[in-house]
Parts: sequence; C-alpha cells; structure tokens
Amino acid sequence: MRILSGIKPTGQLTLGNYLGALKHFKDYQNQGEVFIFIADLHALTLPIDSKELNENSRDIACYYLASGLDPKKTTIFLQSSVSEHAELSAILQNYIYMGELKRMTQFKDKSKKLNDSSIGLGLFAYPALMNADIVLYNTDIVPVGEDQMQHVELTHDLVKRFNHRYGDILVNPKAQVQKVGARIMSLSDPSVKMSKSDPKGDIFLKDDEKTIRKKIMSAKTDSGSEIKFDKENKPGISNLLTIYAATKDITIPEAEAKFQGYRYGDFKKAVADAVVEELIPFQQRYKQILEDKSYLKVLKDGRDKAKKVAHQTLLKVQKAVGILTLDE
Ligand code: AMP
Ligand code: TRP
Repeated sequence: MRILSGIKPTGQLTLGNYLGALKHFKDYQNQGEVFIFIADLHALTLPIDSKELNENSRDIACYYLASGLDPKKTTIFLQSSVSEHAELSAILQNYIYMGELKRMTQFKDKSKKLNDSSIGLGLFAYPALMNADIVLYNTDIVPVGEDQMQHVELTHDLVKRFNHRYGDILVNPKAQVQKVGARIMSLSDPSVKMSKSDPKGDIFLKDDEKTIRKKIMSAKTDSGSEIKFDKENKPGISNLLTIYAATKDITIPEAEAKFQGYRYGDFKKAVADAVVEELIPFQQRYKQILEDKSYLKVLKDGRDKAKKVAHQTLLKVQKAVGILTLDE
C-alpha cells in the first residue's frame, strides 16, 4: 500500500496542521510505503515572500523529522526537486475541466480575498498539480485534513476519466481524515477553521509555552457551564474538547467524561497543559534537527528515491497519451 501527503510551506504551521495531518503521518510508516513532501510549488499559488518560502520549506522538513517520521521508512522530499510533478501536471490539466475547478471551495475561499487581476493562474490550476502529486506514486491513501477532501475527490474523478480513455494506467486514491482533529477551529472564532492566515485564533507550532497557555485560556467559549460536545450550541467548548482528544489520542466521549463537572477555567488549563506537553518536546526536536542540518541529506536522498518512482509513472502516462518517449 502506498501512502502520500504534503504540506504547503506558506505561513507558520498551526496546531490545526499538526493535529489534522502532521502528527499522524508517522502512524502510516508500518502500514505501507510512505511518501511525504513539502508542497513548495503549491505555496507559490498565493503571493509569498521568497525568504519566507525558503525558511518555511526548511522548517517543514524539520517538522516532519521532529514528528517521528523515519527517513529509512518514509521518503521525505521537496515537490519542486522532482520535476515529474510539474511535467505530469502539464499533461493532466487537460483532463480536468474549468467547471470542476470553479467548484473547488479552496479556490472560492482564497480568490474571494483577492481581486481578479491578482489571482494567479496557479491558484485556479492548483488541483491539477495536486492530482499529479498523488497519482505519480500510485497512491492508495492520502491522509489529509477535511479541507483537502474535495481535492482528493477530484483526483478520484480524474483517474476514472483518464483510465476510462487509456486503460488501467493510474491508481485511484482515497482521502483519509482523522476521526478526531480533521478540522480544528479558530480559538477566537470557532465558526471558522484554524488557518495559517488568522493569527488571532491560531496556535502556531513555534509559539512558546506562555503564549500557548495565554491563547488557550482566552479562547472564546460559550454560554452555560457544561463541558459538552455540541458543535451547534457550544462551538468553542467543542473545539477545545477536540483539541484535547486529538492531542491525547482519545475519543470525544472519553474527553467529555474526563471533564464532567469541571469549570471552564479548569478545563482550559487542562487543555493548555496537554498542548504544552505535546508541543514543547516537539519544538526541542525541531531545534536540534534545524541546527544539525540533518534534514538536508534527508531531502536529497528523498528526492532521488521519489524521482525513481515518479519517473516510471510519468513515462507510462506519456506513452498512454501518445507522446513519443525516447527512453525506457
Ligand atoms: P496546508 O497548510 O493547507 O498545506 O495544510 C496541511 C495539512 O493540514 C492538510 O492536510 C490540511 O487539511 C491540514 N489542516 C489545515 N488546517 C487544518 C485545521 N484547521 N484542522 C485540521 N487540519 C488542518
Ligand atoms: N493542498 C494540500 C494542502 O493545502 C497540500 C498538498 C499538495 C497535498 N499536494 C498534495 C496534500 C497531495 C496531499 C496530497 O494542505
């Protein structure tokens, strides 16, 4: 079984990225062959400072290693270092339709914030590159947060369409979201997703202990005093229960049972303790990896391993569509 996922090096990673995606990648290492990459080409789809892109890419490589990914088991690489991603995207974009791309909620959300003359073509074509990322490795499972499911479903449709026309060429992937933590909400406004671009409601993976505690203690809560999971009427408390359960790897009912009878303040303190206990050692591992620069060799080895697999798929697709390929 092949498993693949990636994270865009835009902005600082949040607790949402961690609980919805990053933390779980290592769990797949004993289930199959895992490919985890840094989606740096995707990061260019929105305006980004070059220094920021560079530093964020390096940071994500360190975060991958700090999260427990073992480069002996998992191929860790930069999307841009395997040119097959861009090459396959150039072919696959012809089998995805404008109407489909226009329906993508990520495109709708992100483009709403820009005016027409500053929306790059790459933002619209984002799913074509993402489809290429996924099918290049004959991926079966794509672990992602809930917001990326639509993109993976589009890949599913594309694979069906492509195979229908050319035969059994591409493998059909399936998105896999976490039972708890697939959608962590903003601490300041629990009706919206915690996202890198919303500093008020975020916990960043780089926040120090004091900041983490302060942000959780001042998270927006709801009226009443019961610690109960009820997204509709208690979105703030539900989000904090989700954060606790996802951090501790327990279910929501288990978290509810634990905090029965707690006051909001004591409950928040316990959530803050749990997050601090998880993130502080993670930050220490990150710092060590950043300093010893071990991520550089990991990325080079990863590139070489990924390229071997990706090249085979690209060749197969090129041949299928009728491109005159010159090597085997
Ligand atoms: P991105 O930052 O958009 O590259 O996202 C990286 C991964 O984190 C993807 O799998 C997302 O679905 C996931 N993710 C992003 N924000 C959240 C969130 N608020 N809750 C859970 N997962 C998230
Ligand atoms: N679009 C994903 C995100 O924003 C990142 C990504 C790019 C990805 N290519 C992918 C995730 C392929 C999974 C598989 O989170």
